[in-house]
Amino acid sequence: MKEFQNFMVCNHPLIQHKLSILRDVETGCKEFRELVSEIAMLVAYEATRDLPLEDVEIETPLEKMTAKSIAGKKLAIIPILRAGLGMEPGILTLIPAAKVGHIGLYRDPETALPVTYYCKLPQDISERIAIIIDPMLATGGSAVAAIDLLKNSGVKHIKMMNIVAAPEGVEAVLSAHPDVQIYAAALDRELNSHSYILPGLGDAGDRIFGTK
Ligand code: PRP
Ligand code: URA
Repeated sequence: MKEFQNFMVCNHPLIQHKLSILRDVETGCKEFRELVSEIAMLVAYEATRDLPLEDVEIETPLEKMTAKSIAGKKLAIIPILRAGLGMEPGILTLIPAAKVGHIGLYRDPETALPVTYYCKLPQDISERIAIIIDPMLATGGSAVAAIDLLKNSGVKHIKMMNIVAAPEGVEAVLSAHPDVQIYAAALDRELNSHSYILPGLGDAGDRIFGTK
């Protein structure tokens, strides 16, 4: 398997087990939605492992102590519409105070090129660590467009979380934006002629929202 710098596969057994059920064509909409959220929460655990901590003075019921608190910049979660919305609940369970921005992008079915149709970001986005969330990283076109948008809004520290990534997409994102850290539950084999990930899990948006 190809090695990429700044790309990490989160291969915890719980993630891998849930991912196998997610991929299964027999898995229905309700279970698919629950699994996307659960896997997102577990990947978020890895993606936030390097957040800096600072000492804070607190008082337990028994005595004073120096404890740890997340330091510095706060987080913003940025789902790419639509499918990224499926990852949002799990991540907000883990990081309930995060602000949320939305970027609307879809792939033109003919060209597979991204079309931007919506963008609403927290006002102080340039002072936050932004974590883009999208279950699928295929050609990387949507991810590169989302990262361009965030950088044009002044964001300096960007991470991205996917569930399934294709080597072509990882390559495209890290060539355009080598400073971005990508975390995924799997690195799959390749894209097919319609730019769908193989073996993949099909159309993430349609399976989350039951639109096909
Ligand atoms: C999917 C997916 C990503 C994009 C990945 O969205 O959720 O955003 O495709 O493909 P890429 O890496 O080749 O750009 P889609 O365009 O199907 O839109 P949807 O979520 O609205 O269904
Ligand atoms: N978008 C999806 O939802 N699935 C793919 O395999 C590729 C892009």
